Amino acid sequence: MISTRITELLGIEKPIVQGGMMYVGVAELASAVSNAGGLGILTALTQPTPEDLRREIRRTRELTDRPFGVNLTILPTITPVPYGDYVDVILDEGVRIVETAGSNPEPYLPRFKEHDVVVMHKCTAVRHALKAERVGVDAVSIDGFECAGHPGEDDVPGLVLIPAAADKLTIPFIASGGFADGRGLAAALALGADGVNMGTRFVATAESPVHPLVKQAIVDGTELDTILAFRPLRNTARVRRNAVSVEAVDILARGGEFADVQHLVAGSRGKTVFTTGDIEAGQWTVGMSQALVHDVPTCAELLERIVTDAEDIFRRRLAGLVLVAQ
Ligand SMILES: Cc1cc2nc3c(=O)[nH]c(=O)nc-3n(C[C@H](O)[C@H](O)[C@H](O)COP(=O)(O)O)c2cc1C
Repeated sequence: MISTRITELLGIEKPIVQGGMMYVGVAELASAVSNAGGLGILTALTQPTPEDLRREIRRTRELTDRPFGVNLTILPTITPVPYGDYVDVILDEGVRIVETAGSNPEPYLPRFKEHDVVVMHKCTAVRHALKAERVGVDAVSIDGFECAGHPGEDDVPGLVLIPAAADKLTIPFIASGGFADGRGLAAALALGADGVNMGTRFVATAESPVHPLVKQAIVDGTELDTILAFRPLRNTARVRRNAVSVEAVDILARGGEFADVQHLVAGSRGKTVFTTGDIEAGQWTVGMSQALVHDVPTCAELLERIVTDAEDIFRRRLAGLVLVAQ
């Protein structure tokens, strides 16, 4: 058992969080992670309307009596999102933990705090983590350059970002981006984090709702099979390298605008990848950590293995390296 400030704050057994994931963070996966002793997170915007989110929260409650959270990703979108209505549902339904991401959560904090919601903000820079701490979030999750999705524009990998954050932050924080096994958890704890957040690793689990061919593509993928989309637009996203993402990157590199790639990068095409298993059907999110994914376990098997391996690393491998003076 590994107990940290994050297991205490969130009321979970294992310091492992399943980050919000568009089209993936649904009741089956979130409840499986929570039942396995981690924190499962529903992704609010995967639900087309706030009322759909209400149903998904209720469905999750039927599948687990353990703590789970809801991710609220606030990013520029083509169609305006009724964020306030999603927040109303989160509060109405008595959700205790919210993961905010994308932009400053300050406008929503007073309402969350009024309802004693634990807010964990996901960000990609130490300065943003410190700002989140200043405005009153309870914890942060800090994503290194390796991560799936939005790594920000600073390109600082976890090996520097995590200890740099540990030096400055007072509140609990979890390391995110590139974590997929017990070695990663042990490393994150050694670098000063209170746990890990994982995305890619959870996409390739038995309870993940994506097509089996997508899970297999992650098992087959290497650390070289991602690409940074939208870089010239300063809205960088790490996605799977395929014909569609390469074409979109080329168009933008030649001076194209978002409108020139919109037909390629549409979220609906990414969703098609997940539902049909055609991994060339669109642009889809995945991280470098796919290189560390070699199987498709249940969440219970995965979390047990990660914690046991991390404990083994501390007890045997590392303890055995320390020489005691004669
Ligand atoms: C398929 C997929 C979809 C994602 N969608 C979101 C999202 O909607 N909001 C969000 O905050 N993060 C999203 N992420 C990022 C994850 O929550 C997490 O921060 C990231 O995956 C960590 O890096 P890793 O994949 O190396 O574990 C997504 C990740 C994946 C793999």
